[in-house]
Amino acid sequence: MTKSTLRQAYDILIKVYKDNTYLNLLMKKNSHAGVAKIVYGVLEKHYELNYIIDSLAEKKPKLNIRVMLLIASYCLLYLNTPYNVVLNGISELAQSLGKSALKPFLAAITKKIDEKNYQLPKKNNKEYMEVKYNLPSFLVGLFRKDYPNNFEEIINAKSYDRVHIIAKCGDKTVLEAEPTAIKTQTGYFVKNNKEISLLSFLGKATYMSYGSSLIAQSIPIGCGEKLLDTCAAPGGKSVFLAERGAKVTSCDIHEHRVKLISDYAKRMNTKLDNICKRDATKYYEKWQEHFDIVLVDAPCSGLGVLETRRDVIFNRTYQDILNLASLQLTILNNVKNYVKKGGLLVYSTCTIFSMENGDNVEKFLQQNNDFRLEKIELPYQNDGTIQFLPDGKGMGGFYLCHMRRI
Ligand SMILES: C[S@@+](CC[C@H](N)C(=O)[O-])C[C@H]1O[C@@H](n2cnc3c(N)ncnc32)[C@H](O)[C@@H]1O
Repeated sequence: MTKSTLRQAYDILIKVYKDNTYLNLLMKKNSHAGVAKIVYGVLEKHYELNYIIDSLAEKKPKLNIRVMLLIASYCLLYLNTPYNVVLNGISELAQSLGKSALKPFLAAITKKIDEKNYQLPKKNNKEYMEVKYNLPSFLVGLFRKDYPNNFEEIINAKSYDRVHIIAKCGDKTVLEAEPTAIKTQTGYFVKNNKEISLLSFLGKATYMSYGSSLIAQSIPIGCGEKLLDTCAAPGGKSVFLAERGAKVTSCDIHEHRVKLISDYAKRMNTKLDNICKRDATKYYEKWQEHFDIVLVDAPCSGLGVLETRRDVIFNRTYQDILNLASLQLTILNNVKNYVKKGGLLVYSTCTIFSMENGDNVEKFLQQNNDFRLEKIELPYQNDGTIQFLPDGKGMGGFYLCHMRRI
């Protein structure tokens, strides 16, 4: 528990809590194992540790003090770090932040935590479920409503110890030779290592979650279909589909994310027909009935991939999910115009709640009687929609729907 480990963990947690910075962006720049252990650990016990801190402090601590206490309590309760080591570390951290005056307060709270001089919420307290599942209570409610029989299994699905990787067309030999490789419908689950990341760096293979790759794989490409990927950044599906022969127009609303698409295509040495900045909620006349296939891999709450996105849960409210569901429907109702008669509209998300998935598709089909659900050619029983659930073996929570324009 060095001074620099604590400081780095502190800086990352502040960015996650205060600025809503994506954890995976922060951790990429900082792969030190000790830092990762503390950061992921605190986030995995967020509700429990905050409950303990609030029950011990007379008034709610400000964010900077709270984060110091979160780190101290995680180290004491889950890493079994000795009290003196934690106290020294946290005092030094306070000093380096110019907060030496806080030392007595930090010492007093830390001592009580070390002595387990606190209580956790009882079953009838409203915080009980939050602490038990490490989720805000409105999310526990949504899980229970949509998955009454298996919500615990879904919430507790562990992250897998392998990453999913797809070989660039015709270049599978290196991955097949990898001893840890397990073949999937689209690529391989492998234990990540330097050789694998080198393959990705060289553009010979690409990391893509298994669910995402199935979504791309489900789209029937025959001979040079014109395909519009409306919400495309960073570009994984666009590139996958272009490699399989589609003529891809790839867009995103944010300039900096459009750049990610060109960088991705360049790294994979794949040609996309057109890459542009476009808001999928705004009508663009030139594209009226122009595409054989339109893909909406929609902005969503990301709650199907919780194990990799522990940060999303603290920054989401019920209203955010309502807003996202409404945005998704607006996008569908705009980009449907770009689908040729007889063409295909594909809708996907990485979430598992009906509000953003089945309810939206139902509303869309009610409002648009020239679209029909069409069976998806994947080895999963379906009538045009598939809800993949997190299974702890590499599958995340993804939703997929195919609608044919008649
Ligand atoms: C789930 S991500 C897409 C992932 C991508 N399809 C892939 O496979 O790499 C959703 C994307 O939608 C973009 N987005 C959000 N609102 C949008 C809008 N109104 N129009 C176009 N893109 C939007 C976000 O910037 C984000 O890049």
